[in-house]
Amino acid sequence: MNLVLFGAPGSGKGTQAERLRDRFTLKHISTGDLLRDAVARKTELGKKVESIMAAGELVSDEIVLELIKETVSGVKADDKLQGWMLDGFPRTVGQAQALDGLLADAGDNIDGVVVLEVNRDAIIERLSARRSCPSCKAVYNVINLPPAKEGVCDNCGTELVHRKDDQPETIANRLDVYQDQTMPILEHYEGKIEIHKVNGSLPIDDVTKEIERVIQ
Ligand code: AP5
Repeated sequence: MNLVLFGAPGSGKGTQAERLRDRFTLKHISTGDLLRDAVARKTELGKKVESIMAAGELVSDEIVLELIKETVSGVKADDKLQGWMLDGFPRTVGQAQALDGLLADAGDNIDGVVVLEVNRDAIIERLSARRSCPSCKAVYNVINLPPAKEGVCDNCGTELVHRKDDQPETIANRLDVYQDQTMPILEHYEGKIEIHKVNGSLPIDDVTKEIERVIQ
């Protein structure tokens, strides 16, 4: 089963992917996490993308496609996995077209797109309060999902971070970029792949239940 988790920055893609991954034995592939890892490790790629990400702009399709190619083919080769769940990819119509080609060559396909819908004000509030674990990628929120010990990841004890791109003016730019460059992907999939819209403003558990219902 191959899914695309689609939605604006802060709509809850990472939070839901973390919960669905084990339940359905899927590989969670987040291009944002892959790029942040490269920045943290100060690789050549990381140095190239750091300022682009901090400004809330998109990294070039070429770079992201290279990352995706390796990861998606790795899942196919792993028979313990039932498939993958893409989070934050595709992000442009060009990426969606390239993914179509990649999957066609591999004899694979996307089974569904789950769109998390959340309004802009709620997103700005959520992202301002988000804290992330740079190590195990767990996601927290100082208002509605705080860690047991302030500033420390419950899962692995790593110090939590407030992402550089979670500052108000960068959040606003990311939302504009989403509207202009990412939303048109839904038109690209319309009529070809099942698109399921889910109310991402519901409490986290209810959103999970709704996605599970869609999957089943
Ligand atoms: P990326 O990491 O993909 O960021 P994003 O898509 O902007 O999404 P976020 O991680 O911000 O949010 P999310 O939807 O996962 O929400 P979360 O679950 O954390 O990309 C970062 C950057 O990398 C991009 O700007 C770009 O530069 C680059 N990049 C990445 N992919 C790229 C690509 N394909 N092409 C080009 N460039 C790319 O939740 C957010 C908060 O809300 C948390 O605090 C959480 O606790 C809370 N929350 C979640 N659900 C709920 C709920 N139901 N109710 C209340 N609170 C909730």
